[in-house]
Amino acid sequence: MTESAKVDIQGLDLFYGRFQALKSVTMAVRERKITALIGPSGCGKSTLLRCLNRMNDLIAGAKVRGRVLLDGRDVYRPGADVDELRKRVGMVFQRPNPFPLSIFDNVVYGMRVAGTHNRGRLREAAESSLRGAWLWDQAKDRLDRSALALPLDQQQRLCIARLLAVEPEVILMDEPCSALDPIATGKIEELMLDLKERYTIAIVTHNMQQAARVSDFSGYMLLGEMVEYGSTGKLFTRPEKKLTEDYISGRFG
Ligand SMILES: Nc1ncnc2c1ncn2[C@@H]1O[C@H](COP(=O)(O)OP(=O)(O)O)[C@@H](O)[C@H]1O
Ligand SMILES: [Mg+2]
Repeated sequence: MTESAKVDIQGLDLFYGRFQALKSVTMAVRERKITALIGPSGCGKSTLLRCLNRMNDLIAGAKVRGRVLLDGRDVYRPGADVDELRKRVGMVFQRPNPFPLSIFDNVVYGMRVAGTHNRGRLREAAESSLRGAWLWDQAKDRLDRSALALPLDQQQRLCIARLLAVEPEVILMDEPCSALDPIATGKIEELMLDLKERYTIAIVTHNMQQAARVSDFSGYMLLGEMVEYGSTGKLFTRPEKKLTEDYISGRFG
């Protein structure tokens, strides 16, 4: 069942102080597939996503129990290299967050931090990452311009390019389209389908249609619990749980 799991989440609890935000969540994120997390606001989707690259470490008072195996190794094991983890498991946020730098400097930011300064190599990586994020044509003649001058959807694709430049294996996306209009959203969705040829993707979305359109697997969460998890086709047409059915049919949430 978990053989092709890129990330295997086992009995994961998360506490913010005394508040338990995740309750024994078990789920396998399959390699080179898109896994969507759905559920009403506040049910723990972002919290769960952030556990996959230990972004919750940055929140004072957050405590994790259970296991998150990346290629079979627990990312929470003592001595795990968190910087390395965040390179392998990159994240895209709700609001595009380019740095106040040029387009070029944004894309190669992570490479420079990792010690690459060879102009030719940076240039090459910038081009292939921008191509990978479907931004090359728009950006190639203005690589030295400020990233902040780009329209929002291009800023979001720039943030994706910035991840691609450090060659991640898993890409986490937390409501990546919530600031975008329907056309820009459609473009990001198409891009995701293209990216899954090479990367494992986990996405949080409050948009059930989006989950149904792009994902291979979906998990429905409620109050910190994984109510139902399985193939998207099945979850949206023949859910096993009454709670799931109520949610996807719009009776709740
Ligand atoms: N930094 C935090 N400190 C305390 N509680 C938090 C924090 N972040 C989220 N929570 C709480 O954890 C629960 C899950 O939040 P979240 O993962 O953001 O849900 P979702 O992404 O599904 O909307 C909510 O009740 C929220 O209020
Ligand atoms: Mg959220």
